[in-house]
Amino acid sequence: MKRLRLLCALIGFTSLPVLADMESSNKDAFVTHLINQMTQEEKIGQLRLIAIDEKMTPERMRQEITAGRIGGTYGSVSRYVNRPMQDAAQQSRLKIPMFFGWDVIHGHRTIFPIGLALASSWDMDAIELSGRTAAKEASADGIDLTFAPMIDIARDPRWGRTSEGFGEDTYLVSRIAKVMVQAYQGKSLSAPDSIMASAKHFALYGAVEGGRDYNSVDMGLARMHQDYLPPYRSAIEGGAGAMMVALNSINGVPAASNAWLMQDLLRKAWGFKGLVISDHNGINDLVQHGVAKNHREAAMLAIRAGVDMSMNDFSYGPELPGLLESGAVSQSNIDNAVREVLGAKYDMGLFEDPYRRIGVASEDPADNNAENRLHRAPAREVARKTLVLLKNENELLPLKKEGVIALIGPLAKSTVDIMGSWSASGVPSQSVTIYDGLKSAMDKGSLIYARGVNLTEDQEVIKYLGASEIENDARPAAEMIDEAVKSAHQADVVIAVVGEPRSMSHEAASRTSLDLPGRQSELITALKATGKPLVLVLMNGRPLSIGKEQEQADAILETWYSGSEGGNAVADVLFGDYNPSGKLPITFPRSVGQIPNYYSHLNTGRPYLPGGPRNYTSQYFDQSHGPLYPFGYGLSYTDFSLTDMALSSTTLNKTDKLVASVMVKNIGQRDGETVVQLYIRDVVGSLSRPVKELKNFKKIMLKAGEEKAVHFSIDENDLKFFNAQLEYAAEPGEFQVQIGLDSQDVKAQSFELL
Ligand code: NOJ
Repeated sequence: MKRLRLLCALIGFTSLPVLADMESSNKDAFVTHLINQMTQEEKIGQLRLIAIDEKMTPERMRQEITAGRIGGTYGSVSRYVNRPMQDAAQQSRLKIPMFFGWDVIHGHRTIFPIGLALASSWDMDAIELSGRTAAKEASADGIDLTFAPMIDIARDPRWGRTSEGFGEDTYLVSRIAKVMVQAYQGKSLSAPDSIMASAKHFALYGAVEGGRDYNSVDMGLARMHQDYLPPYRSAIEGGAGAMMVALNSINGVPAASNAWLMQDLLRKAWGFKGLVISDHNGINDLVQHGVAKNHREAAMLAIRAGVDMSMNDFSYGPELPGLLESGAVSQSNIDNAVREVLGAKYDMGLFEDPYRRIGVASEDPADNNAENRLHRAPAREVARKTLVLLKNENELLPLKKEGVIALIGPLAKSTVDIMGSWSASGVPSQSVTIYDGLKSAMDKGSLIYARGVNLTEDQEVIKYLGASEIENDARPAAEMIDEAVKSAHQADVVIAVVGEPRSMSHEAASRTSLDLPGRQSELITALKATGKPLVLVLMNGRPLSIGKEQEQADAILETWYSGSEGGNAVADVLFGDYNPSGKLPITFPRSVGQIPNYYSHLNTGRPYLPGGPRNYTSQYFDQSHGPLYPFGYGLSYTDFSLTDMALSSTTLNKTDKLVASVMVKNIGQRDGETVVQLYIRDVVGSLSRPVKELKNFKKIMLKAGEEKAVHFSIDENDLKFFNAQLEYAAEPGEFQVQIGLDSQDVKAQSFELL
């Protein structure tokens, strides 16, 4: 507060109430007053988000900041790197503080499982813990804002960024969006251990055609509102301070020049009051999109449409002065954007104390990656909840910690891949690999290892993904497979760790195939031929088409990219120290040709009929119908039974509620958790409605033999949808309630909305 008063005195602002408690009227008055003191150059400077790089050396950066020409940075992630920049800001004419942004997506120094994995936990407390821990670590490194959460609905796993988000389902992603925002931002955004969330990518980035990154999106408004927009709105309801604009176009208009998106929808309809940031170079890309003839026009379109801040700015800085002078951009266009940047800094508490998160030099960590700065216990606790057991024939799992285990596969000892893409400030040497995890868990017996195959030997692919990401064994493939087979012969059980290198599940990493890359499939066939029990441990950032491999394996554990403590978490599950409880947040296809195959599809006029004639129904004739593993699917080491559902009434008034109940019983020998899922189908509507939509879920723990009643309350809000006029309303008629432990195997009952 003292510092805010000094600043007020400096800019001649005297009306701050004695008990200034960050009310919005104070904020508005403060920001308005500050804007009135600013030169045009200082204003435009605030709209620029810049990274230190070869051209923008730290020294040049400081000069630019002192001159008032930069508003924030991204990518500088240490207190001692950020402090001199904040010092430079404090030497500028108006002492406007900088903010420091970074992609803290799933952990910061301690890496938590990737987004898709977090969603597999269906555990909001675990997800919250991951976000809160990341915020604590990032803020302790002087970071004020994260470009997260990534909440794009992804229904085409060819898209490499499927790994970053929380899957295909609108309801699940919307729930997680809010939890993540609140976890990052804490109880108060100005708290030293809070960071501002910049939800992304607004909007519909996950729906790029063909799953090809940066491609276009063409979508009807009803579907957009119903399926794709709710997560962004949920992030805003959670209090997200910022939004990042997507790189794609929407029905022909790029997001970065889309006034409908950023003004009509975001600000007017949804009431968003925060900061809108472009994606990296997203403004200049408007030229390639073909809506601007040059960078000047691109800057004009973006600022007029409502992009406040320009990331990696080579557009606002150079172009806005001329645009303003010519009248193409108005003073209020600029001032509105500046207002949002200053408002965000105010909310982050930076006017009060610019060093709030940078702290004092005497307390800087001697080593940023010191072991004692990590949060391994929460990382392990969360990671084991994200693992999904896909198959467990003859109860092969859990394994005994004895005998001889052959651990095979190119990902078993990878410290890099297990972190997943966008692994912030994580350091590979601090990852517990699957090999390490198994080794330290085994008290008796022995673990033998063979690499088996390389992940890819295609030199073009390796060049594309980055040579440092793919470390290959130079031996001939046949020799490596032979070695693996020999190891398998010596073992009681074989664990094959296969999947994708993390660089294949990343931005700009779209694939035309969902098969296991390289010769991994060949390796699995060779291991199967040994006759030894075979466990597949999958490490990947998207659903893979593993039809053949799932027939060969006795057990399959999907581990995604499970982070710094991944190896320990996987060992916990493989050895039964933790009973798996994860459920898929995205459908696994049988082949890439089935895409899209999300569970909440429309029925069509000629739906596929299980057991019925297949001809003239909506399906592919050359493959079995339906997914390999459905949305919501995941096994446990115990079994659960579900009684038929009871509905409290067969009719529902618009002002009433009804309750759907099932009894869930643990009929196995072990304690375990499962996720009870509620789906609803609107049987007849003014628009054709999905065959089911997730509306609620409960994760419950049951001791062996224990039985619990699970109740879901349903009211009109659960039945609403966007009709052709984009009114959000429920229509009277029949609704089907479906409850299950996955989206396919459900108990159903109907009621009528009066
Ligand atoms: C581009 C990505 O699309 C975005 O998600 C990320 O936040 C920025 N680069 C900054 O790293």
